[in-house]
Amino acid sequence: MKAIQFSHYGDPDVLQIQEVADPTPAQDEVLIEVKATTVNRLDLFQRAGSRPVGNLPFTPGLEAAGIILQDSNGFKTGEHVLTTRASLARGGGGYASKLAVPAKDLARIPTGVSFEQAVAAGLAASTAWGGLFDLGKLKAGERVLIWAGSSGVGSIAVQLAEHAGAWVATTASSEERAQALKQLGADLVINHRQQNVGELLQEAGGAQLVIELVSSTLQDSLQAAASDGRIILIGNLGGKEATVDTQAWRLKRVNVLGGGQLRTSVTNEEKFLQLIAEHAIHPLIARTLPIEQAAEAHRLLDSGDIQGKIVLTHA
Ligand SMILES: NC(=O)c1ccc[n+]([C@@H]2O[C@H](COP(=O)([O-])OP(=O)(O)OC[C@H]3O[C@@H](n4cnc5c(N)ncnc54)[C@H](OP(=O)(O)O)[C@@H]3O)[C@@H](O)[C@H]2O)c1
Repeated sequence: MKAIQFSHYGDPDVLQIQEVADPTPAQDEVLIEVKATTVNRLDLFQRAGSRPVGNLPFTPGLEAAGIILQDSNGFKTGEHVLTTRASLARGGGGYASKLAVPAKDLARIPTGVSFEQAVAAGLAASTAWGGLFDLGKLKAGERVLIWAGSSGVGSIAVQLAEHAGAWVATTASSEERAQALKQLGADLVINHRQQNVGELLQEAGGAQLVIELVSSTLQDSLQAAASDGRIILIGNLGGKEATVDTQAWRLKRVNVLGGGQLRTSVTNEEKFLQLIAEHAIHPLIARTLPIEQAAEAHRLLDSGDIQGKIVLTHA
């Protein structure tokens, strides 16, 4: 099979197409032909060496959508499946054209949902679901602030929260991006470069839940939160450090929870895939490129000049 790999750390051009042996599935694994994967920020860090990987050469790709190649473990040849655990699969990650995936890590893709849509939702939607519902306990009628609405996680979180009946505020750095986020269902889009996010949320009554994807903004999130509000730390787009007013935090009784390596269950992954089939949510795809252009895709994500996910397709 073919796989895009890097055998030393460096700029995007270290990503090279290689001919490698097909993976042999273990008893609890299912062999899939990968049709689509995505580029995540972690892929860039791994390739550059700032998050070193175990062994080189290495095949990146945190998620994969594809076709079952042989009947196994309750799956039938030809079924369409998604895994958000491609980096743990034999032969993987998702930049490889075949993977042997533990059956417990496979979600079925319903009719009407393309591989590109499934994988664009993928880990981003699994993470968003985990933050909003598993940890965040979001309920209909609550106000939620989702940082970085233009990010992969943010753009799907906005839609999942709106679909759950919440009032949704989010952030974007341009009017064009704000308009796109309103189309996805955001009730309030705040330009985080020009406006004070904490103040505007207070004026709106305070957010019962904040999905923190930036984290250097934690003080704004504390200001935005309602008394007894919940803040779920999911990402560090703004860096690792934040300065906060601990007294205001204490007096407001805000609960700040670290999300860890957040994902929801396969059962819930099948629920958001069904929402795509019903046209209730629409994964935001910034660009779709053939896997051979993985280096170009890495440059694109690094530029920050995109809204939504970059999808890579295998022929
Ligand atoms: N399982 C997990 O725990 C998990 C899974 C996936 C991702 N994550 C984390 O979640 C975060 C989002 O990941 P992603 O891949 O969805 O991001 P992404 O698609 O790369 O999002 C980038 C967008 O975020 C916004 N942004 C960037 N820096 C910002 C800042 N300092 N303040 C406000 N907005 C900023 C920008 O939009 P605007 O310019 O329009 O604001 C930018 O276009 C990352 O930190 C990632 O590591 C965690």
